[in-house]
Amino acid sequence: MKLRCPLCGREYSEPVQRCECGEPVEFETFHGEPYIGKSVWERFYDFWPVEPVLEFSLGEGDTPLVKSRLGEELGIKLYLKNETVNPTWSFKDRGTFLAMSYALKAGYRTVGTVSTGNMAASVSAYASRFGLKAKILVSESASEEKLKAVGAYGGDVIRVHGDYGRLYFESLKLGEKLGVYFINSDNPFRIEGYKGIAFEIAEEVSPDYVLIPTSSGGLFRGVAKGFIELYESGLIDNLPKLIAVQAEGCSPICRAFHEGEEKVERFENPKTIAKAIANPYPPSGNAVLKLLREFGWECVAVSDEGIRKAQERLAREGLFVQPASATGIAALEKLDLPEGAKVVSILTGSGLRTLKEAQTGKVMECPLEGLEKCLR
Ligand SMILES: Cc1ncc(COP(=O)(O)O)c(C=O)c1O
Ligand SMILES: [Zn+2]
Repeated sequence: MKLRCPLCGREYSEPVQRCECGEPVEFETFHGEPYIGKSVWERFYDFWPVEPVLEFSLGEGDTPLVKSRLGEELGIKLYLKNETVNPTWSFKDRGTFLAMSYALKAGYRTVGTVSTGNMAASVSAYASRFGLKAKILVSESASEEKLKAVGAYGGDVIRVHGDYGRLYFESLKLGEKLGVYFINSDNPFRIEGYKGIAFEIAEEVSPDYVLIPTSSGGLFRGVAKGFIELYESGLIDNLPKLIAVQAEGCSPICRAFHEGEEKVERFENPKTIAKAIANPYPPSGNAVLKLLREFGWECVAVSDEGIRKAQERLAREGLFVQPASATGIAALEKLDLPEGAKVVSILTGSGLRTLKEAQTGKVMECPLEGLEKCLR
């Protein structure tokens, strides 16, 4: 096992989660070849840092890549990577499954996470599937609607009163002391699991651009690492241009990127409807910033109004996503993409998780006697 800090270069042979310098660590770059297999775990067997425990898979990954009609209107070829169909409705399941495979092999009996929505449900579900206990730490502001979905799987939900930003680091420290393996947003195994998104995209198209809703930066780092490994393995000819998409009301990475800052600073008073990507102090912010600059990639911030419009537009094509997941489509308006460009937008999570905030369609009341009139 070899891990490296992408910021300071320190190396580790133990499965630590963060470098002494405070930044996240990541696994060495894997190289290999694809095989014939049913799941992405089998087809890209050479690329995982731990053997996936397939008997406990819930069928995460291998999600559809859907050609969008919107692309024709915009003069591009637009594909939607539909991660909403994962077992607990978001891409998080890919990372949760791989990290939990490690936790099980390493002998942990209890796992945990710090989240309020998608990741909480994912870790809670997979802990039950793997026969492990789960400690889900949530913020004071976590909604009842979301917590119900977490508790349903059987994990212990703990509402923590205090600075939510500090909770991430506190959980790793206490987890180590108490033998609880915390699978937070940029856990190194979680990031490896996200590479599958890049692998599956590359099996179907060679995109020029990939739009990635970004909060902590874990997803962005995973998709980037996946494409880089394919490129270095000689399996793709070009690296796509990756675009990190944030909500204007909480865009610490885009701000640092455009203002030429060396480090990502905390974003004060975050406010956006895209709550799932509203981490004001992203733990992988600096690592994402480095990737953006190194590869000449881009960061785009989109308005709540643009997000709402994009969410509605996607629903009109049969894809109901949460506001955070519509940000990639909202970003299209702000990007001047060349005619015919091949673009993939990752639809990260389902709209069913944020039903309260959803715009409801009209309901027509109709007496049975008047049904004929109503149908006209
Ligand atoms: C729906 C959705 N999209 C995107 C993201 C961004 O992922 P990351 O925090 O790894 O940047 C999240 C993270 O919680 C999410 O829940
Ligand atoms: Zn370091």
